[in-house]
Amino acid sequence: MKGIILAGGLGTRLFPLTKITNKHLLPVFDKPMIYYPIQTLVNAGIQEIMIVTGGRKSGDFLSLLGNGKDFGLGHLNYAYQEGEGGIAQALGLARHWAAGDEICVVLGDNLIEKNIKGAVDDFRAQAGGAKIMLKEVHDPQRFGVASLDGEKVTGIVEKPSEPESNLAVIGIYMYDERVWQIIDTLEPSERGELEITDVNNWYIRDGSMSYEVLDGWWTDAGTFESLRVASNLVAEGGANHTDARAGQAVAEAN
Ligand code: DAU
Repeated sequence: MKGIILAGGLGTRLFPLTKITNKHLLPVFDKPMIYYPIQTLVNAGIQEIMIVTGGRKSGDFLSLLGNGKDFGLGHLNYAYQEGEGGIAQALGLARHWAAGDEICVVLGDNLIEKNIKGAVDDFRAQAGGAKIMLKEVHDPQRFGVASLDGEKVTGIVEKPSEPESNLAVIGIYMYDERVWQIIDTLEPSERGELEITDVNNWYIRDGSMSYEVLDGWWTDAGTFESLRVASNLVAEGGANHTDARAGQAVAEAN
């Protein structure tokens, strides 16, 4: 399985912090944001990783990360996204490298507390299809929101004004090799982007989407408030490992 981290986009919700640099190079407590999704994949046992970046200071990723030695990696792969055509467009840029394999995609501004190796192993054992991870939140309007019927996901709505549940779709997605053809069929949404939610709804209609509710805290870091929460969570409990205090902190922050 290959890992792909999406770290493009212009990060306009963090202006002026992102006026001269890429959002994923900003600090989250004691490390640049991009360190956390890389560690998420490495902890899950995924060693072959591509970072899709773009926008301002994209060359700084190479200076910062090199071949991934800080993570015990011998090599890192990079792709460049021109403009801000959406998460699914950024993912499409990894096709030449990942086609033929199953993939685990992590959004570059998503941080988690615990290890997702169990979910990744479950997906490896699944007969193709896709897997998403969900987390209960107090502000589902900010995210893709899943509707469930027992063990099945019945649909996802991107940033609904009247959410059907409080289960946000977090920025970790697993797909089989059909994902590239699905991206080819997408049309830009109202915000002018190729939406990852449209990819996920394709797998839901196909009947091949599974889900797991994430254990431990999760946050994005793409707004001033969530960036502050992310820094506090890492400072209090660290990311990608178990810490009861951190779980409590996010419950309070939410
Ligand atoms: O954080 C989870 C949420 O992420 C999901 O619940 C939503 O369903 C999903 O659409 C996404 O929502 P956002 O609107 O918060 O995504 P954002 O535009 O902030 O992009 C998230 C990351 O994706 C960003 O850190 C870098 C990457 N990205 C985004 C765009 C638009 C790219 O690499 N290229 C892009 O063009």
